[in-house]
Amino acid sequence: MEEKIKALREEAISEFSAAVSAEDVERLRIKYLGRKGLISGLFAGLAGVAPEEKPKIGNLLNELKTAVSEALKGAAARIGSISVSSKAEGLDITMPGIKRPLGHKHPLTQVFERINEIFLNLGFKIADGPEIETSYYNFEALNIPLEHPSRDTFDTFYIKDKHLLRSQTSTVQIRVMEKEKPPLQVIAPGKVYRPDATDASHSFMFHQVEGFMVNEDIRFSDLKGILSLFAKQMFGEDTKMRFRPHFFPFTEPSAEIDISCIICKGRGLLTTKRCSVCGGKGWLEILGAGMIHPKVFESVGYDPAKWRGFAFGMGVERIAMLKFGIDDIRLFYENDLRFLKQF
Ligand code: PHE
Repeated sequence: MEEKIKALREEAISEFSAAVSAEDVERLRIKYLGRKGLISGLFAGLAGVAPEEKPKIGNLLNELKTAVSEALKGAAARIGSISVSSKAEGLDITMPGIKRPLGHKHPLTQVFERINEIFLNLGFKIADGPEIETSYYNFEALNIPLEHPSRDTFDTFYIKDKHLLRSQTSTVQIRVMEKEKPPLQVIAPGKVYRPDATDASHSFMFHQVEGFMVNEDIRFSDLKGILSLFAKQMFGEDTKMRFRPHFFPFTEPSAEIDISCIICKGRGLLTTKRCSVCGGKGWLEILGAGMIHPKVFESVGYDPAKWRGFAFGMGVERIAMLKFGIDDIRLFYENDLRFLKQF
């Protein structure tokens, strides 16, 4: 009996180590460890063993079973072939997968898309322009000659040969009007650059959406109508607007436009405390606008006696900050997931 056990052990181990496929392993498992297999057969023979030998032989049989089971595991692992694995690739499809967290759009992208959607629904089309511009498109064509004082605040990052990073998306007005004839109804979203020191409300780079409309009969009331539709869709039906006289070289007349504070609803107060979002004023500035200056029409070869138009420009960060209640512009650019996950 002892001899038989030893021989079987050697035979099993050498057969398992010669196995080359999952089928081999399975066949050997049945041969040795199956319910009617060789090892079961030996256990059955235990009944005929002399009583004083029984414990010893029983132990040997148990050891044999363990050793053959180990050989089976070793062979299975070597072939990478536990029975449920994909036979062709040695790939275990029952392993738990690696879960990739689903991301979502950046809050600025969400606001850009909403702005675009509102204006596309109003019949505007989207135009694009370069971020590296010539000073002509950024300044002169927009009626900002070299000696104009308003140029100081926009004077931006110069590259060389009069090339610079644009400080406003109004450049796209010129580029579109040079190429196309009225009627025009265009928005131009994009990045702009200014030599501003970075703090909670300033950044050397930020995003704007420019918009303009040109036709024979465009009036200031069209500008008002379009912008108030925009404000209501962006911030809610009860949003009010106010126009304050302002100056831009490329529009005349010009205005800065405020909406009623979306936090205190224009009251300036929250219960009894001053509203911190609008500083108690009840109004929030969201854009600059006006009627396109005749000089701008001249620089693109439009007859200023014939064409009328309005233009406006808004800061996307500013709108996103108001919409989401964000109080520091720098958060948009830091890619901190703890911030981004909130929107
Ligand atoms: N370009 C102006 C700015 O960057 C905004 C503006 C656009 C004002 C169009 C009037 C008309 O501040």
